Formats: sequence, C-alpha cells, structure tokens
Amino acid sequence: MRIFSGIQPTGQMHIGNYLGAVKQWTELQTRHDCFFTVVDLHALTIQQNPQEFGKTSMETVTELISVGVNPEQCVLFLQSHVKEHTELAWIFNTLTPVSELERMTQYKDKARKNKRNINAGLLTYPALMAADILLYQTQGVPVGKDQIQHLELARMIARKFNNLYGKTFVEPETLVSKEGAKVMSLQDPKKKMSKSDGTQSYISLFEEPASIRKKLTEATTDAGKEIVYNPAKKPGISNLLTIHALFAKIPLKDAEKHFKNKGYATLKSETAELLIDVLEPFRRKKKELFSREIYVKEILKAGARKARTVAEATMEDVRSKLGLVPSS
Ligand code: TYM
Repeated sequence: MRIFSGIQPTGQMHIGNYLGAVKQWTELQTRHDCFFTVVDLHALTIQQNPQEFGKTSMETVTELISVGVNPEQCVLFLQSHVKEHTELAWIFNTLTPVSELERMTQYKDKARKNKRNINAGLLTYPALMAADILLYQTQGVPVGKDQIQHLELARMIARKFNNLYGKTFVEPETLVSKEGAKVMSLQDPKKKMSKSDGTQSYISLFEEPASIRKKLTEATTDAGKEIVYNPAKKPGISNLLTIHALFAKIPLKDAEKHFKNKGYATLKSETAELLIDVLEPFRRKKKELFSREIYVKEILKAGARKARTVAEATMEDVRSKLGLVPSS
C-alpha cells in the first residue's frame, strides 16, 4: 500500500503527535511503501521568523528520525523541496468551493486565534494538503482525528478531478488509530493537546524528566476518586489512562485494572515514570543527531529525489489532462 503523511515544523513534537500519527508511521514503514514529509510550506500560514524557521524544520526532521522514522524504510523529505506540491495546490484551489474551505474546523480555530493574520493561505491550506497526498497516488493516510475533515476534502477533490478530466487520482483512506487518535490537553482535557495552548498543556517527546513529573502532577483531574475510563464523565482521568496504556503497550482495560483502588496521585506518578523511561531513548537519539546535520541533509536530498520522481509523473499526467501546453 502507498502511504503518505505529514507534520508541521512548529517546535518540539508532543505525545499527541506521536500517539495519533507518528507511531503509526513507524509501524507502517516496515510493511508499506511510505512517504513522510515535514510540511514547511503549510507552517508559513502562521508568520515565521526566517532566522529560526530553517532550524525548526531541520529539528522536526531530526525528531522524526529520533522517534523511529527510518529513512532506510521510507521516503523522508521536506515539502518545499518538491515544487509539484504548490503547482498541484493551485490547480486544486480552482476546483475547491470557498464554502467548503470555510467549513473547516481547523481554519475556524486558527482564524480565531490569529485575528491579525487571517491570510488566504490559512483558508486554502486543505488544497495544499490534498496536493501533498494525491501527488503520490496515496492509498492510506495515517493521521490523528483532527485531520479527518481535511482528508474528506482531499477525497472530494480527487473525485471531482477524476469526474471532470478522467481517472487520475486515487481516493485515499484515512488511517486513524483506535486509541490515541485524539490525545487531550493536560490542562483542559476537553480540548485536544496542542502546542498553541501553552507548554503546560502538552508533554514533548523530548521533555526532561523533572518537567514531565511537574506537568503530570499539575494535570487537571476530575471529581471523585475512582480511576475508570469514561471520557464524558472523567475526561482528565480517561486521558491519563489512555496515555498510560499506550506507552505501556497494554489494553486500556488492563490499565484500568492496574489502577483499581489506587489514587489519582499514583496514576500520575506511575505515568510520569513510565514516560520518562519510554522517552529516554528518543532524547538520547536526538542529542546524538544534533551534531550530524550533514547526515540529515543527505537524507533529505535523497528523499526529495525519490519523491520528485513520483510527483513529476503525476503532474505530467495532470497537465496533459487539463490541456496545458507542454514546455518542450
Ligand atoms: P500537525 O502538524 O498539526 O500534526 C501532525 C500529526 O499529529 C496529529 N495530532 C494529534 N493526534 C492525536 N492527538 C493530538 N492531540 C494531536 N495533535 C496532532 C495530527 O492529526 C497529525 O496527524 N495538516 C497537518 C499536516 C499535513 C498533512 C498533510 C498530514 C500537511 N499535509 C498530508 C497528512 C497528509 C497538520 O497540521 O498536522
């Protein structure tokens, strides 16, 4: 199966990114034909500091490798290195009703948070995302729950293009994991974990032990004492239980059993120690890769070369279907 997914370079990856998406990437790469990309062009919808932006993009690539994305098993590249993404995004812009774009939850959210920079890119973001995916004849897209709406739009765009111009694109399937597809904020467990809600609300995959302990100790819990999985009534405890079960690699039911008759403080401290343990190799690998920028750049160069081969073939087909005059 052809798999494609992406992540924005917006600072350190958190456990939500991992449990919702990147962990799936590391599993899928061993069995499938995978393309993974750091979507630097998407990140430009929020104003970036040019002095920092390149470093952050490189850091995200390094982080992906540190947590197990293996460039020998997948194609790993930077979105801006393959020009076809923006070319196809433009074409998709001409096929996408503005009303559909305005319905997108992420757009509404970001527009609310960035009132002073509601740029056109923020609105047409899903057309670029559809281009990312459809360029590679992707069959499966592993993502967290918050991206499902964008994936539906990508399928709609594929369908529309195919109907108008003949079969060109595959309609990709959304691969959402049963658990962990929406890890919630530690501060407000009714909201998804997100970097934009302040550092107390998330745990980075490279967080120092003392900070992990502090954030978990201060995590919001619920009324009562019982440790049970019930997201509607106990959102905080259910979130911590899910995090615990997924990192311990045990079923939720077993985690519940393990914490039966124990207090919230025990759930928090055991989860903290578990995270410290499991994340330790990630921190170590990232430190090790920090001094190997040339190696990481070589990976990106090779990745872009492979990605381009597929993307160029799709674009040639698209241009010809649209009746664009070939340049040679
Ligand atoms: P981004 O960078 O916000 O997040 C990367 C991945 O992490 C998932 N995720 C979560 N999963 C569970 N719980 C959470 N709290 C949580 N927060 C984030 C996201 O669902 C995502 O899978 N638009 C995308 C990037 C993108 C993309 C693509 C993805 C651009 N082109 C093509 C797939 C295919 C985004 O902003 O993800």
